[in-house]
Amino acid sequence: MRASIGAVALLLAGCGDDGAAERRAAVGANAKLADYLRVSDAGRGRKLFGQCAACHTVRAGGQNLNGPNLHGVVGRGIAQGPARFGYSAALQAKQGTWSAEGLDAWLASPQRFAPGTSMMFAGISDPLDRADVIAYLKAN
Ligand code: HEC
Repeated sequence: MRASIGAVALLLAGCGDDGAAERRAAVGANAKLADYLRVSDAGRGRKLFGQCAACHTVRAGGQNLNGPNLHGVVGRGIAQGPARFGYSAALQAKQGTWSAEGLDAWLASPQRFAPGTSMMFAGISDPLDRADVIAYLKAN
C-alpha cells in the first residue's frame, strides 16, 4: 500500500504543466497515430487550437473566418462544410471524409496533403500536438 501511494505521488510530481512529457514517454519513440490518439488530451488541444483560431471557429453555427467553421468536421466530407465557404479546387478534389488519419496528414502539412490549398498554415510538426488538436476537434 505504501509503495503504491509513493508511486502515485511520484507520477503526480513528475507531471509537467500539461502532462505532455509523460504522455510522450508513455507511448515511446516509435509511437503511431493510434498510440498518440489513445493518450490524447482534448483540453490541451483546445489550447493548441489557439494557432487555428485566427481562421477557424469550432462552435455549432460559428461563422466562417478566413477558414470554414470546423464544428463536426471529424467524419464530415472533405471540403463539405458550410455551404457559403469557398473551398479551393485543391481541397474539393479530395475524396472521402475527414478521418483521424486524414486530419493528421493535413495538419502535418496542408500543402503536402492538398497541393494548392488556400489554408496558409505551415503545419504542426509534433505528432502529440496533432493528436491533441484532433481530440479537440472530435469533441466539437
Ligand atoms: C491562415 C488561416 C488558417 C489557419 C491558421 C488555419 N487554417 Fe484551417 N483552413 C483555412 C482555409 C482557408 C481552409 C480551406 C482550405 C481550402 O479550401 O483549400 C482551411 C481548411 C481546414 C480544414 C478542412 C475543413 C473542411 O471542411 O474540409 C480543417 C480540418 C482545418 N482547416 C483545420 C485547421 C486547424 C486544426 C488549424 C490549426 C492547427 C488550422 N486549420 C489553421 C485557413 C486556416
